[in-house]
Amino acid sequence: MKKHDIGIIGMGVMGRNLALNMERNGFSVVGLDVSCEQLRVSEEKFSGKKISVTNALEEFLQLLDTPKKILLMVPAGDPVDTVIGQLQPHLNEGDLIIDGGNSHFKDTDRRGMELDAVGLHFIGAGISGGEEGALWGPSIMPGGRKEGYELVKPILTRIAAQVDDGPCCAYIGPGGAGHYVKMVHNAIEYGIMQLICETYDILKIAFKMKADEVQDIYCTWNDGELNCFLMEVTAAVLGKVDDETNQPVVDVILDQAGQKGTGKWASQNAFDLGVAIPTVNAAVEARILSAFKKERVEASRVLHGPPIQFKEKKEEFIESLRCAMKLTMVTAYAQGFALMREASTEYSFDLQFAEIARIWKGGCIIRARLLDSIREAFKEDHELVNLLISPHFASMVNELQKDLRYAVRTANELGIPCLAFSASLGYIDSYRQERLPANLLQAQRDCFGAHTYRRIDKEGVFHTEWQERMK
Ligand code: 3PG
Repeated sequence: MKKHDIGIIGMGVMGRNLALNMERNGFSVVGLDVSCEQLRVSEEKFSGKKISVTNALEEFLQLLDTPKKILLMVPAGDPVDTVIGQLQPHLNEGDLIIDGGNSHFKDTDRRGMELDAVGLHFIGAGISGGEEGALWGPSIMPGGRKEGYELVKPILTRIAAQVDDGPCCAYIGPGGAGHYVKMVHNAIEYGIMQLICETYDILKIAFKMKADEVQDIYCTWNDGELNCFLMEVTAAVLGKVDDETNQPVVDVILDQAGQKGTGKWASQNAFDLGVAIPTVNAAVEARILSAFKKERVEASRVLHGPPIQFKEKKEEFIESLRCAMKLTMVTAYAQGFALMREASTEYSFDLQFAEIARIWKGGCIIRARLLDSIREAFKEDHELVNLLISPHFASMVNELQKDLRYAVRTANELGIPCLAFSASLGYIDSYRQERLPANLLQAQRDCFGAHTYRRIDKEGVFHTEWQERMK
């Protein structure tokens, strides 16, 4: 019986497209799914190709070459543990399981240790690119033991997106490093998406622009320095017209955002590690606020904003907004990389930042022209603590901050919410201060809680009896 190079469990659209991608690149694949519908669609899509599908685990395993390489494309959480539990008794030492879903990196760490203890390899691979990426070349972030990665490296590097600097797949680091980096990727994605949404809102409210007019602006932006997949997608979305109403589809979509959790995980982890990622946090909170639709409708009846009277020159303002968008996008990446730097130390991931920037250049949702300069900044200085202080980005901050201030000021004056824009400006302004008002904060803490403070003029820990002064 002809054995297959790799097996995929979960023949949903991602699993199916990855199978087609592998087959196109010369690998034979066997797919497993228990859903009759998924099997039917898969059989249809796989007709005439070197891909077999089955709903029987035994047959699936028999069809695999050794050491067995099995990619799980099942929902994150319990389903991953369930499938691993079902597979484990049938696997032999040296076989490999790859989790290609959006698992939490701590779950990946745990699973890696459990499987390592019984002689099985385990790789947690972040895969970004959505359905199209899975089919034509995603960005792949594999983590775990390097020996495990080596088994599947020829397949993963072949199916990944290919850019001028090579395949968008590279070994990330031990344990849950791959899923950690994917989580940060998604956090940056949340930030950029929210920033684009805020520019759309400003254009729509300040200039009463229609969807197709905003689309034209984004197309122009996407042709230049702001070129990125998310801008391209947003422009495409704005051009789509609803067949039923003849309105732009975007205008008939309910303004309540969903989220699957990776952005929130990044915020939670950033709090744990003590890293400031305000643009990402603002993006998560903007989604949360959007979900309170009923409350917002009621509040809109009693809480009023300023009148919308915008007298600035349209062309000039739009150019400033473009520059502001560029700078805020940089802050989103800067925060993501700052978070990864801390995580790399905390979890001993030994992350290679220039390489991460490289594999995000193609295939993934946050691919952007900007990543060339980000990669260069880390290539020049691997120890760079924050992108904002690299020579290239520092001059960008110094040059474009006036545009960001103009955009935030305008939004504030018109009462247009801009949580992520404000957070990005606040991040830059806080980060560039030699002194912050935290001296007063320390005094407050010491006053009511005797938490002590340190002084600028001598070593040691001090406490003041403040109450006397309060009389
Ligand atoms: C994904 O990983 O599927 C998305 O990129 C992020 O999903 P969300 O916006 O639903 O959290």
